[in-house]
Amino acid sequence: MKIFLIGFMGSGKTHWGKIWADGLQYHFYDLDEVIEKKESRSVADIFSESGEDYFRDKETEALQTLTHPDNYVIACGGGTPCFNDNLQWMNANGTTIYLQSSAEELTQRLLKEKATRPLIKHIDDNDLFLFVEKKLHERETFYLQAQYVVPTIKADPTTLKQLFILHS
Ligand code: S3P
Repeated sequence: MKIFLIGFMGSGKTHWGKIWADGLQYHFYDLDEVIEKKESRSVADIFSESGEDYFRDKETEALQTLTHPDNYVIACGGGTPCFNDNLQWMNANGTTIYLQSSAEELTQRLLKEKATRPLIKHIDDNDLFLFVEKKLHERETFYLQAQYVVPTIKADPTTLKQLFILHS
């Protein structure tokens, strides 16, 4: 089974993805890292040197060509479900889980990590909340099409197991 974790930047996809993959004894992938390895450069460099459209193409290609192993948990990028029909593809090829956080919570976390994130590094600290709120609102159209929604405040090491026991 392939488990796709989606959600806004800073929602904890990588953090929980690693813990949940461990609990299920599944392989863990971070989609940004897969792309960085293929391109031999950072996501920030891909954005600044080749532009967002190029990154989105590479992101879709990386997502859809990860066929091995059979069982894995993958932390997608915040924009992954919102481009190139990726969400439809994920829903057809595995289980999708939206890690849902509030704009307030995300802003608090992102303020500390702004510099490494191409989409927000140019935004003034005082404007970040409004940016996150607007973008989150736009993106939830996609995120909420996930098969499961897990509020981050309810996330714990047993969440995935509980979810699957509940629905099996
Ligand atoms: C992006 C989120 C990032 C990364 C890229 C674009 C986005 O991933 O893919 O900077 O569009 O929200 P994380 O959500 O893992 O930070």
